[in-house]
Amino acid sequence: MTTMNTLICKIFIVFLCLFEHGAGKKICDADHKFLCRKQTECSSCIRAHACCNWCYDPTFKGAKCDLADSLTRECNVFYIEFNKNETQMQNFNAEDSNDDSDAQITPRKINVFLRKEEPVNISFTYQAARNYPLELYYLADLSYSMRHHIETLKSLGDELSKNLQRLTTNYKLAFGSFLDKPGMPFTQTDEQHLKNPCRWDGAECNPSYLFKHILNFTHSSDRFFKAVNKSKISANADDPDGALEAIFHILVCGEKFGWTQESRKLVILSTDSFLHVAGDGILVGATLRNNGTCLINYNGEHTAPLQYDYPSIDEIRYWLREKKVNLIVAAPREKSGYYLNLANSILEKEMYVGELERDSSNILDLVSDGFKRFIRQVEFSANTSDIPNLSVRFFADCNGIGIFEELNECKNINEYDPINFKAELNLTEWEDSDSETLIIREKNINEEIFVRIETVGRCKCTNLKNIKTCIHGINDCDQCKCDGGWKGEYCEEECTGNTIGCIANTSDYYCSGRGECQCGKCECERTYSGEFCQYKCPVDDNGKICAGHGTCTDGNCVCFSDYSGHNCNCSTSLESCKFGTDVLCNNKGTCSCNECQCDDNFFGAYCEKLKGENQVDENLLCKNFDSIVKDNQENIDDTSTSTADNITTYLKYVSQNYICSQECTIVSFEGNDRCKLRYCYEKTDFGGIQLLVTPKYCSKTAQAYGINLAIGLFTAIVGVGILFIFIKKWQISKLDQAEFKKFQASKASETIESNPLYKSPLTSYRNPLKR
Ligand SMILES: *[C@@H]1O[C@H](CO)[C@@H](O)[C@H](O)[C@H]1NC(C)=O
Ligand SMILES: *[C@@H]1O[C@H](CO)[C@@H](O)[C@H](O)[C@H]1NC(C)=O
Ligand SMILES: *[C@@H]1O[C@H](CO)[C@@H](O)[C@H](O)[C@H]1NC(C)=O
Ligand SMILES: *[C@@H]1O[C@H](CO)[C@@H](O)[C@H](O)[C@H]1NC(C)=O
Ligand SMILES: *[C@@H]1O[C@H](CO)[C@@H](O)[C@H](O)[C@H]1NC(C)=O
Ligand SMILES: *[C@@H]1O[C@H](CO)[C@@H](O)[C@H](O)[C@H]1NC(C)=O
Ligand SMILES: *[C@@H]1O[C@H](CO)[C@@H](O)[C@H](O)[C@H]1NC(C)=O
Ligand SMILES: *[C@@H]1O[C@H](CO)[C@@H](O)[C@H](O)[C@H]1NC(C)=O
Ligand SMILES: *[C@@H]1O[C@H](CO)[C@@H](O)[C@H](O)[C@H]1NC(C)=O
Ligand SMILES: *[C@@H]1O[C@H](CO)[C@@H](O)[C@H](O)[C@H]1NC(C)=O
Ligand SMILES: *[C@@H]1O[C@H](CO)[C@@H](O)[C@H](O)[C@H]1NC(C)=O
Repeated sequence: MTTMNTLICKIFIVFLCLFEHGAGKKICDADHKFLCRKQTECSSCIRAHACCNWCYDPTFKGAKCDLADSLTRECNVFYIEFNKNETQMQNFNAEDSNDDSDAQITPRKINVFLRKEEPVNISFTYQAARNYPLELYYLADLSYSMRHHIETLKSLGDELSKNLQRLTTNYKLAFGSFLDKPGMPFTQTDEQHLKNPCRWDGAECNPSYLFKHILNFTHSSDRFFKAVNKSKISANADDPDGALEAIFHILVCGEKFGWTQESRKLVILSTDSFLHVAGDGILVGATLRNNGTCLINYNGEHTAPLQYDYPSIDEIRYWLREKKVNLIVAAPREKSGYYLNLANSILEKEMYVGELERDSSNILDLVSDGFKRFIRQVEFSANTSDIPNLSVRFFADCNGIGIFEELNECKNINEYDPINFKAELNLTEWEDSDSETLIIREKNINEEIFVRIETVGRCKCTNLKNIKTCIHGINDCDQCKCDGGWKGEYCEEECTGNTIGCIANTSDYYCSGRGECQCGKCECERTYSGEFCQYKCPVDDNGKICAGHGTCTDGNCVCFSDYSGHNCNCSTSLESCKFGTDVLCNNKGTCSCNECQCDDNFFGAYCEKLKGENQVDENLLCKNFDSIVKDNQENIDDTSTSTADNITTYLKYVSQNYICSQECTIVSFEGNDRCKLRYCYEKTDFGGIQLLVTPKYCSKTAQAYGINLAIGLFTAIVGVGILFIFIKKWQISKLDQAEFKKFQASKASETIESNPLYKSPLTSYRNPLKR
């Protein structure tokens, strides 16, 4: 059953999820339509915006680049190049690896559709697996001074395996040892010393060597201890020794020694010496540089110790990173400072240094401390050298609280907690290829995320049958995109005159997307100008270029005389600020661009209106005309004119219902009648003022008897009220008088002390001794 499941998992993509749609880009509105319709080629169309789609039906005469809904209505769907109209992401979570439970990074495959400068975030999670394979190479310094250490190691036996069991149940061990290059001055080379380099100490030990790989990676700790038990101390001459060379070969030969792809790899170096580094080899004539070739033979011996120089720290760093290996150095107190310096300066992320006790009793603690240090760090990187126009930014939520910081690594995480990461992919330039694969790598474990990036910048126009041959240009969905200097349907016609390209080096679109390229020359849309239509001409509030009062060059208006302002909408005339007289804005404001800017409380086109209380505004201009209307009201016909106060006015009767915006009303009383005379004033086309007078309307004022009755009633009501008040008042004052008399009387008969509320301010005490 399980095998069946695994099979299914292997065959099918287990789940596929779509998320993180390009935010808010789905709604295509009139602005997008406008943008689309500017595009004249398929590729510029689908690059312009996700909302734009292209109709490549050769017979279609409408706007070829348009929103999907317009296009589907008008163009045969068969001929539509649909845009990927949203940036989207797909995760493929199944793996072809054998054991999915070990995956520490999920997902491992992501598909992303990217558009230029529309960044997309991809999310992934790292979680250290509890029983992830651990491959541990024990590299022992077998120089004479380390003899106690190797004895301790031999005695560890079960303890080592128990300790490692605690870290992971799935571990492998390998063993190797090193001394130094077998040549003077690193090793004594006289015959007797070569045989037994420990002679001078009266001891017996093995001939010296540079590096010996002793045990391939094995699950069996028995075999490990047998190998350790067999190893014998040797000796070299100077203090520093060849540890770097040994580490280098473990790194480059690791696969030969049996380490696998998917594992956490550690090298434990126990030493009490300093390091020989690149350049030191010259002393023994070893000058060749090793570019990463494994020089270890089937016996585990170095084949050319005297030809190749020691590696540099930088090379070690490179190979540690390349092979995803971490280094734990166990060194006694007096040497650990040297290694700590190294760790802090160069190998910060790759090396852990522990201080080894004199009797090496804490070696197991150092191993598990180092292991924990490395398992608690995670670092992602992406190599974009194949996709130079993609920028990748990493964000990490190291504390698991949902707050992402721009980081590509976390340190000191809780060992087995999941850590969420995001990578923001931003395409800064359209790629020429349709898809690329970006690999996101983790520093320590050999798991990668494959991000397949599809860029949506090219048209395929798959259903196009008649492929045009463009003689001097390229075919862009059966439209010829001519080279500079050529025009015509097939780019067959040579241009005469201007052959400058239509594309500015700062833009992606021909004529900046604001015009048509006609034979290497831009013909700009209405409001644009310049060689590449790169300038937008100022328009007035009605969309008129230079307000119709000037000409546009390189995006700037040159105004006709009488006009000013960046869009020429400011008239230098004062006429509109005058009404009848030469007075500007009725002296209640200033005239700017032929418009009145009124002082506070004044308004109206000529500042003729004064804001009144209770929203009853006063029109100051009316005063100028009231007398004219009054004087002429009896004899108005169509030709009546009047000249008073230097104002020429034309008077005319209009009907009662005549509606106007500028009106005045004259109120007058004629006998018992209250009469209203309403008239309108307006400027005439020929510079005078026209007064349009409506018929006078009168209404009866209130009749006298009505008033008398009202007054009588009013007086009666008030009179009764006042009388009532007087009676009440008289009653109260009577009561008050009685009350006051009572008080006077009681005051006279009373002493102060008898008042219960009274307390004398004097207090006297009697001295009890004074008798
Ligand atoms: C997106 O494209 C699909 C076809 O690929 C279309 O059905 C849909 O209407 C488009 N959406 C928008 C907002 O253009
Ligand atoms: C990606 O995620 C980071 C962190 O949450 C955020 O700052 C950034 O704006 C996101 N980018 C996009 C394109 O959503
Ligand atoms: C180590 O080797 C010695 C003999 O050389 C043997 O007595 C001892 O049992 C061995 N120890 C282990 C753990 O194999
Ligand atoms: C290293 O150099 C040798 C020749 O010295 C060459 O054959 C080998 O391919 C090189 N290896 C690498 C990884 O460059
Ligand atoms: C390690 O394994 C390789 C084959 O994978 C073998 O050639 C080599 O001799 C082994 N080395 C030791 C020291 O066992
Ligand atoms: C990135 O990959 C390219 C080849 O794909 C390689 O040459 C380059 O060294 C890599 N860069 C890094 C920093 O790994
Ligand atoms: C994407 O790249 C472009 C071009 O480099 C840049 O202008 C833009 O700010 C980037 N967007 C984000 C979210 O980083
Ligand atoms: C991508 O970037 C490179 C280097 O920055 C640049 O030369 C190239 O023109 C860019 N565009 C494309 C489409 O590759
Ligand atoms: C466009 O490119 C040309 C030549 O490379 C250069 O002289 C010119 O300054 C560029 N123009 C702009 C606007 O960058
Ligand atoms: C002139 O145009 C500017 C900008 O559109 C506008 O703010 C201003 O009110 C206009 N002035 C006049 C007098 O129309
Ligand atoms: C009428 O105009 C004359 C000359 O133009 C001027 O002298 C006179 O003061 C004006 N009268 C009024 C009332 O503005």
